[in-house]
Amino acid sequence: MSEQQRIYPVDERLAADAWIDRDRYQQLYRQSVEDPEGFWREQADSLSWSKKPSTIKNTSFASDNVDIRWFEDGELNVAHNCLDRHLDSRGDQPAIIWEGDDPNDHKIITYRELHQRVSQLANGLKSLGVGKGDTVTLYMPMVPEAAMAMLACARIGAVHSVVFGGFSPDALAGRVVDSQSRVVITADESVRGGKQVPLKDNVDAALTREGTDVVESVLVVRRTGGDIQWHEGRDRWFDDVVDQQSTDCPAEPVNAEDPLFILYTSGSTGTPKGLKHTSGGYLLYAALTHRTVFDYHEGEVYWCAADVGWITGHSYIVYGPLANGATTLMFEGVPTYPSHGRIGQIVDKHQVAILYTSPTAIRALMAHGEHIMDDSRRDSLRILGSVGEPINPEAWDWFYRVVGNSRCPIVDTWWQTETGGHMITPMPGATDLKPGCATKPFFGVQPALVDNEGRRLEGAADGNLVILDSWPGQARSIWNNHDRFVQTYFSTYEGVYFTGDGCRRDEDGDYWITGRIDDVLNVSGHRMGTAEIESSLVAHESVAEAAVVGYPHDIKGQGIYVYVTLNDDVEPSDELKQELKQWVRKDIGPIATPDVIQWAPGLPKTRSGKIMRRILRKIAADECDGLGDTSTLADPGVVEDLIENRHVRI
Ligand code: PRX
Repeated sequence: MSEQQRIYPVDERLAADAWIDRDRYQQLYRQSVEDPEGFWREQADSLSWSKKPSTIKNTSFASDNVDIRWFEDGELNVAHNCLDRHLDSRGDQPAIIWEGDDPNDHKIITYRELHQRVSQLANGLKSLGVGKGDTVTLYMPMVPEAAMAMLACARIGAVHSVVFGGFSPDALAGRVVDSQSRVVITADESVRGGKQVPLKDNVDAALTREGTDVVESVLVVRRTGGDIQWHEGRDRWFDDVVDQQSTDCPAEPVNAEDPLFILYTSGSTGTPKGLKHTSGGYLLYAALTHRTVFDYHEGEVYWCAADVGWITGHSYIVYGPLANGATTLMFEGVPTYPSHGRIGQIVDKHQVAILYTSPTAIRALMAHGEHIMDDSRRDSLRILGSVGEPINPEAWDWFYRVVGNSRCPIVDTWWQTETGGHMITPMPGATDLKPGCATKPFFGVQPALVDNEGRRLEGAADGNLVILDSWPGQARSIWNNHDRFVQTYFSTYEGVYFTGDGCRRDEDGDYWITGRIDDVLNVSGHRMGTAEIESSLVAHESVAEAAVVGYPHDIKGQGIYVYVTLNDDVEPSDELKQELKQWVRKDIGPIATPDVIQWAPGLPKTRSGKIMRRILRKIAADECDGLGDTSTLADPGVVEDLIENRHVRI
């Protein structure tokens, strides 16, 4: 039987103790779509509200009126829900277990300690003039201070914008300006895989860019003690500001629809978009998905191996687990350092029960052979999770067999920055698993498949994935640009949310995500717009034109393949290829570095001048036999040249 047809039935022993078993899933799912108000009203009781909402759902996906509100007259504080309300019952329980890049470095922070530190930091932010509704940019390593900073903002009603620490100064500057942050929180350096990354230097460089003079203060966590420049009057050591503050900082009640954070992500066109997530619906959704999809039980150690710079880190390192009073493990390093067995060693060291990681991390380990897991037992594991991209059946199998000792169900969770939390996913006690399949919708989620004209496809079908109605965790808008929000997600097909993903539904009604159908790349689970990379390249003096596509890559899932047309007076050379790779790396960040550059004397264009990416994707994938109709090209000759000089992988 092929791997794709293999089914891993629910483990009945696990189901007996699970929050959600088969019957409960059926019953709750039905209720959640037939009576969303009733369902979410009941669920909302799991949060602590300073003013209980009376209105539950008030949402419209109509393209002339996209307006999404949940619990709109409710008031709560997110940090109170993640900290204060746990103090009586679990004040001395670890909230965060921090595992450093160096295996000899770890720290345990209890709920009481976290509460104190967050309160002090919140007071510190106030002393710098930060108040309700102000934005704060975080450019941080994976250290507990990152979670503290997020929660401190939430405590005073400020809005955080976390920028992934791998982004360049320019990328950081763009996000600081767009969000108009008056305060930036960073560290001297981050440490990953034994190497330092100069975060503070990057902030210094970013803050020389136009428009960044809005920033008044930079708070610097001392992580490595490495050399940094100091800007008197602007820069402050984190500890100097925080240590002297009172541990008493009342949590500011905010409206359920007040913004909690902005998170920038790439789209198919233009600059990254700042998705706006709000407080009540987001927190409820993050908490409920965390508890049910990972079947989290009191006292378990849960580890999401993502970075807080991505939505996965927001919802499943910080907000979901802490709202549930869980112990969340935060890992500073990389899975392959100092040895390839690090993941297993961490699992054993902290007795991790739930491990949530990405297909690209699994593939990176697989390449080194099964023996790399020999120095760990991993018998504390109960549940595994995957996120970020479709997981190929070989990686699924390795994760299941080698990491999970063939004992632990894998929840393959499909979702997006925009969705706030899991959307299509198995639940360990309820769903039979199929390797590579995200299976069934979460409560309240109504997926549908449509063809390119927007016609609904029924039964087993392949199409574009849309969501028919709102769920509480959904982003409400794009920061400063609601029109773009409407345009991007609600104008392709009227009245529904368009995900940008292709998807197949099989005979059992299970959903298989097939990947992006727009010009968005997914490289090692990191999302990137082809347009961003193209505009970086054409800013180089030698480049006339550039087209970027993804191609299948064994470890990264997708690699970045670039076609470059040079200016007439420029000679192509290998040195220039290296220079262009470095150029993009420096401009956007290491994750955007092209894998392959091919010189293109011309690009295949229609007579109206549109680049035919379909053809470029085929050539990059080395599928030159199926190029389809090229007769509409202005100059079909260019295709011959591109095929002849394509990069062929061995
Ligand atoms: O294409 C889908 C893919 O990642 C995209 C969302 O990327 P981002 O907003 O960065 O969020 C990643 C973490 C939630 C989706 O449009 N994707 C994410 N998870 C899966 C996936 N594709 C297939 N299977 C998944 N489990």
